[in-house]
Amino acid sequence: MCGIVGYVGEKQALEIVVAGLRRLEYRGYDSAGVAVVADRELHTRKKAGKLANLEVLLGTDPLPGSTIGIGHTRWATHGVPNDLNAHPHTSADGRVAIIHNGIIENFAELRDDLIANGVPITSDTDSEVVAHLLAAALPVHDGDLPEAMRSVCRLLEGAFTLVAINADQPDLVVGARRNSPLVVGVGDGENFMASDVSAFIAHTREAIELGQDQVVVLTRDSVTVTDFFGEPAPVTPFTVTWDASAAEKGGYDLFMLKEIAEQPKAVADTLLGRIDRSGSLQLDDMRLSDAELRAVSKVIIIACGTAYHAGMVAKYAIEHWTRIPCEVELASEFRYRDPIVDPRTLIIAISQSGETMDTLMAMRHAREQGAKVLAICNTQGATIPRESDAALYTYAGPEIAVASTKAFLTQIVACYLVALYLAQVRGNKFPDEIRAIIAELADMPSLVDLVLDTAEPVRRLAHLFADARSVLFIGRHVGFPVALEGALKLKELAYMHAEGFAAGELKHGPIALIEDGLPVIVVAPSPRGRSVLHEKIVSNIQEVRARGAVTIVIAEEGDEAVAAYADHIIRVPQCPTLMQPLVSTVPLQVFACEMATVKGHDVDQPRNLAKSVTVE
Ligand code: AGP
Repeated sequence: MCGIVGYVGEKQALEIVVAGLRRLEYRGYDSAGVAVVADRELHTRKKAGKLANLEVLLGTDPLPGSTIGIGHTRWATHGVPNDLNAHPHTSADGRVAIIHNGIIENFAELRDDLIANGVPITSDTDSEVVAHLLAAALPVHDGDLPEAMRSVCRLLEGAFTLVAINADQPDLVVGARRNSPLVVGVGDGENFMASDVSAFIAHTREAIELGQDQVVVLTRDSVTVTDFFGEPAPVTPFTVTWDASAAEKGGYDLFMLKEIAEQPKAVADTLLGRIDRSGSLQLDDMRLSDAELRAVSKVIIIACGTAYHAGMVAKYAIEHWTRIPCEVELASEFRYRDPIVDPRTLIIAISQSGETMDTLMAMRHAREQGAKVLAICNTQGATIPRESDAALYTYAGPEIAVASTKAFLTQIVACYLVALYLAQVRGNKFPDEIRAIIAELADMPSLVDLVLDTAEPVRRLAHLFADARSVLFIGRHVGFPVALEGALKLKELAYMHAEGFAAGELKHGPIALIEDGLPVIVVAPSPRGRSVLHEKIVSNIQEVRARGAVTIVIAEEGDEAVAAYADHIIRVPQCPTLMQPLVSTVPLQVFACEMATVKGHDVDQPRNLAKSVTVE
């Protein structure tokens, strides 16, 4: 998954493009590059490593001034991260530069044809073939870059966002997309295109989302969108609801710290405007009719990583409130198991970025079987909501840190809203019951705030266990997905072995892992809920402690039963059973973030990862 920026206007392009890349660096950061056109010549600079390396190069080997340019930060798929494989890639004649996000699945045969025609291939990437194909297409199309781009796109298979400039057409930037993000920023005497709006939000909040198989041509005064055959294509303008500062660190050392702290507001914002004056739910941005929702016979949630864990939490509420069977599937597994899907199946695709290829391909498979798809997404204009029958946006604001935090809490809240809406239109719940649950949700931001205010002991625990070889996480009921999420956070941030289990599964094997000094983090259910669950988790704590584990128990205020067996206890405020993940997850986020900091890792951009995985 890569960061892409294109600019044409009246200002110095390089400054705008590099600033845009800096905001997109979370999308991929193993190399970076820029290209501009000046005096009808193409000039390119690119460098392996983080964007800072490119900026050093631009200082020692500056580009000429120009009002048109493109830039790229890379997350390698084909070809190791080095200077040669960095984007932009240029045609052999040095007249065309392209940048690419995605995977061109038929690049090998295209490259073989180019080599057979004597074209010198200089990199190991799939992207480079596009530069050469464009150069070959230009003379066929009277030197018209838009037409050449359309003809090349018709040759390509796979997922791609492409942006190109041509020294012989110094007034336009041409972009194209299939299965990969590209959004246009509309300015005054200037226009932008980028992987997401954060790249140009400092200049304009007026944006246009591009659809599948579309080509966009920018000049400083115009935006033209067509399909791959040159037919005018419909566009969807929108105004970005958050400003540039929201995409900055806001005084925090880390985006992750900022985003953990933003969770109360993120939850509150996701609830905003969803409850009418009578206290009933209204999800007007959910374009499924009540009749369609009443016909739903099964819900299947598809997602990856943290979003998948949010879906696991949501399952308990959906089944409890609506009595509709609900399955939760890893998107990467879903379509390969021949799932049973029909027009009465509601697919809920959860994705913070809205570009995760595993999730996108799974939902497409489901739609081909006739299912309705509802996307829960945090990114306006993203591919997954655009291709869904309905979308419910979380309003967490931009989540820049690779490790997902506020998106997780808001995904749970959004799923709860969908569940309550289903219960409302199907009559499983009376309005007063729905209003009561909504009121419980509306209390959660202040409870999350309380957890944040008492996070210091959790940070100290991270220092205490920094040398642990492994950490286990156990939970029951909605605490089980929270345990999985806590383990994922520790893996992806501290690079430590961590594993989450259903506490009831311990005796079926994993308890053999318990040894002296092994930290076991327990997400304890409320004793005020299903008491049997609480009694059982107390037994589980005793079982692991008897075998030498050091127990760290997350328990609600007033739960003294667990205190006797907890070596360390982390208190969270009392709240309804199904709301507990919204408070019990936060200490686990803080623990992992602090552990990564103690270990000196890059918390916001952990090794090997990218913020959105737009390849399968
Ligand atoms: C979570 O911390 C990770 N960044 C990763 O598991 C992420 O949740 C997953 O890749 C799904 O991303 P999405 O929500 O953008 O689809």
